[in-house]
Amino acid sequence: MKSGFLSKLNHPVMLAPLAGISSLPFRLINRRFGCEYAFVEMINARSLSYENKKTAELLQTAPEDRPLGVQLVGSEIDYIKQAIDKLEKYPHDILDFNAACPQKKIVSKGDGAGLLRTPRKLQLLLKAIVGYSRMPVTVKLRLGWNSGTAAADIAAYAADSGVSALFVHGRTAAQGYSGTVDYEAIGKIKKKVSVPVIASGDILSPTLAKKMFDETGCDGILVARGALGNPWIFREIMAMLKDGKIPPRPTVNEIAETMIEHFRLCQGCFNEQGSVVRFRKFYVWYTRGLRGTKVLRAQVMRAQTVKDMFEGIELFRDKAQYNT
Ligand SMILES: Cc1cc2nc3c(=O)[nH]c(=O)nc-3n(C[C@H](O)[C@H](O)[C@H](O)COP(=O)(O)O)c2cc1C
Repeated sequence: MKSGFLSKLNHPVMLAPLAGISSLPFRLINRRFGCEYAFVEMINARSLSYENKKTAELLQTAPEDRPLGVQLVGSEIDYIKQAIDKLEKYPHDILDFNAACPQKKIVSKGDGAGLLRTPRKLQLLLKAIVGYSRMPVTVKLRLGWNSGTAAADIAAYAADSGVSALFVHGRTAAQGYSGTVDYEAIGKIKKKVSVPVIASGDILSPTLAKKMFDETGCDGILVARGALGNPWIFREIMAMLKDGKIPPRPTVNEIAETMIEHFRLCQGCFNEQGSVVRFRKFYVWYTRGLRGTKVLRAQVMRAQTVKDMFEGIELFRDKAQYNT
């Protein structure tokens, strides 16, 4: 079923929120290859209510960075409302609420996936957020706290709060990021709720993207780890869904050109040290799996200046090869 914000999109393949990764340059580079809807990484409601400087930096955006989702994490409604007030001055299109993060420091406060242990509390919180926000509200869930949880019942509680869609990561909180995604459980949620269900988990290739749609009946998918150093995954998934034909992988030259574009976007957002330090991990992701790159990655992890980084990219262009 298509409704609300999904009906405004041209396609339902979106970029997931990724803490420490989903900065403006990362979103823009993925948009270049077909991503239409992207997320800012989760933002702590209490920090945003104090307008902490680092939090404001996370909300940095640009006119071409739309439509955009902002995600809040927390469980104290007063702070969440204050955070929503602060968000008024930051352009965005959807307000998502995180009931999915399994990190100890988050769940120990009853936030993130901790809320999956108290579905009624989660529903009340969501109702209050939906009532307060001027933006459409969505929620990101996991398949409950552990394998003993009735995932479809929790999802139904959440859906009954008036949210516009559910994002469902097909693992339990106890699983963290390991183990396999439970397609059947996502399918059961899809059958049980009447709001759109956007599925997440192991969208690492066009084939796995199609499998998620086929096996769960979901309305959309979130690409997460599959987009790290791999914005091409968007054009590949779109082609797969259209006619089953996957375009060839990018050439070494195309990877180098995309790295340059991505790094320049970082330079536009951060100072020299900030852009170099942030781009190091992307360099590792862009270059992995290609022959002749191990020594380059070790070198770039020590890069200090913009010049060092460009040198690392040019060395990659000269030396990297696909394994045949
Ligand atoms: C490093 C990292 C950071 C993440 N940060 C967030 C986040 O801020 N908010 C959120 O809802 N999910 C977050 N996730 C979960 C992803 O959005 C996604 O649901 C999950 O990785 C499953 O998809 P995948 O198996 O395709 O990676 C994060 C995942 C990773 C690996």
